Amino acid sequence: LLRAEGAIVDAIDLLTADHNRVRGLFKLFKDASEKDDRSTMVEVAAKMRTELEVHTTIEEEIFYPAIRGADEEIGETVAEGLEEHHEVKVLLRELEDLAPDDEAWKAKWTVITENVEHHAGEEESDMFPKVRSQTEADWREQLGDKLDRRKGELGAPTMADRIDLTSAQVKTLATEQEIPGRSKMSADELRATVSPG
Ligand SMILES: [Fe+2]
Ligand SMILES: [Fe+2]
Repeated sequence: LLRAEGAIVDAIDLLTADHNRVRGLFKLFKDASEKDDRSTMVEVAAKMRTELEVHTTIEEEIFYPAIRGADEEIGETVAEGLEEHHEVKVLLRELEDLAPDDEAWKAKWTVITENVEHHAGEEESDMFPKVRSQTEADWREQLGDKLDRRKGELGAPTMADRIDLTSAQVKTLATEQEIPGRSKMSADELRATVSPG
């Protein structure tokens, strides 16, 4: 997944890593929410917002346009994906006007986590396998590089920002960040997934 000389990553692996990172945040939010720990909820919510904004931006600017013409079925999943992104963006916009102690604040965040779980699950089970079966690894790596560079421009950590993390460091971060499936991931997969801090 990551190579010594640089940080080349398959576009689908990069997007899946984004999904798992945000799923970790959803878990942290849910745990804080069950304890009614507002300050942690607010802290995690800020991270969820950034992750979701960056991820939907790179999908809409780069990934979806690159794949939507591949065939009719992929085009349909992209059209559906855009509507699902739109629903999340509406909720994120509404949240800007709400204080965290407003009852609707937690409710809207909970609905976002549910919607995104559904959306990311559909991308992984439907859209991504179709794209993978119709494209070459080289093409996906070039696209992954574009996605990664755009993330950097948007102020998000890139693959290069993770490359120096040791296996021990990525394991610790993956546990702290509640990355799902971490026990079955290789060090490289974990490195591509964790937030470097
Ligand atoms: Fe998406
Ligand atoms: Fe996605």
